[in-house]
Amino acid sequence: MNSIKKLQFGELEKIVVLTGSGVSAESGIRTFRDMAGLWEEYDVYEVASPQGWKKNPSLVWKFYSERRKQALVCKPNPAHFAITKLEERIGTERFLLITQNVDGLHKKAGTKNIIEIHGSLFRSRCSNDLCIGAKESFFDESLYFEKIPSCPSCNSLIRPDIVWFGEFLSPSLERKARDSLFQCSILIVVGTSGVVYPVAGYPYLAKSRGAKTILVNKDPPQNLEIFDEFYEGLAGEILPLLI
Ligand code: OAD
Repeated sequence: MNSIKKLQFGELEKIVVLTGSGVSAESGIRTFRDMAGLWEEYDVYEVASPQGWKKNPSLVWKFYSERRKQALVCKPNPAHFAITKLEERIGTERFLLITQNVDGLHKKAGTKNIIEIHGSLFRSRCSNDLCIGAKESFFDESLYFEKIPSCPSCNSLIRPDIVWFGEFLSPSLERKARDSLFQCSILIVVGTSGVVYPVAGYPYLAKSRGAKTILVNKDPPQNLEIFDEFYEGLAGEILPLLI
C-alpha cells in the first residue's frame, strides 16, 4: 500500500465522497462483483429489474424483505464513521456523500448530507410510474413475505424505491450530484469497481473541473487512470488514517 498522506484541505474547499458496496464489505454485506450475478441464492436480474418485478413481484419482495432484515442488524464500520468525521470537520454545507449503496449504513453512522443515488432499502413507492405515489417514496421497514401492499391512490402494487438494472436515476438527484462534482475541489472514491454507469463516470466530471481525485479500494478499478492518488486496501483500515 502507498504510505497514506493525511487529507489536507483549505477553509473554502468542498469535498465530495463517492461510495460503492466495498465500503460496507467490512460490515458483512457482500459486494456486487463478489456475487457474480447471484445475490445470496437469487439471480440479480430476477429480483432487481423491471422484467423480474413484472414476472414475480412476490419473489422481488421476498428478496428485498430479506435484504431489509439483514441491513437492519448490520452495523457501520470504521470507514462509515471516518466519512461522518470528515463531514463534521469540514461542515455539512461543504460536504456531500454520494452513495450507490442502499443499505442505510452511512445514515446509521451519522452522515447527514447524503444522496442515495441508487435508492434505499428502507423506502418504498407506488410501482405505477404515472401515479403521484411513484414520485413520493415513503420510509418503510416492513417485511413483505406474504401480502404486498397496494397504493392508496391507484391500487397498483407498492415496490422498493431502488433503481433496478435498466432503470434511470432520479433526474433531480443526478443534477444535485453533478453540480456538486463540478464544484468540489477534492473527490474521494471508496469501494466501487467503476463499471456501473453513470456513476462510474462521476470521477471524470470532478477531474474535468480540476478536482483532486483520491481512491480507496481493495483492487484497482476499471477507471483507475482518473485518480491522482490510489490507496489499495480495506476502506475500514485506510479511511480513518486518511481522514
Ligand atoms: P462492486 O461489487 O462492483 O465493487 C466493489 C468494489 O469494492 C470492488 O472494486 C472491490 O475491490 C472493492 N472492495 C471490496 N471490499 C472492500 C473493502 N473492504 N474496502 C475497500 N474496497 C473494497 O460494487 P459497486 O461498485 O458498488 O447498482 O457496484 C455498483 C453498482 O453495481 C451497485 O450500486 C449496483 C450494481 O449494479 C444497483 O443496484 C443499481
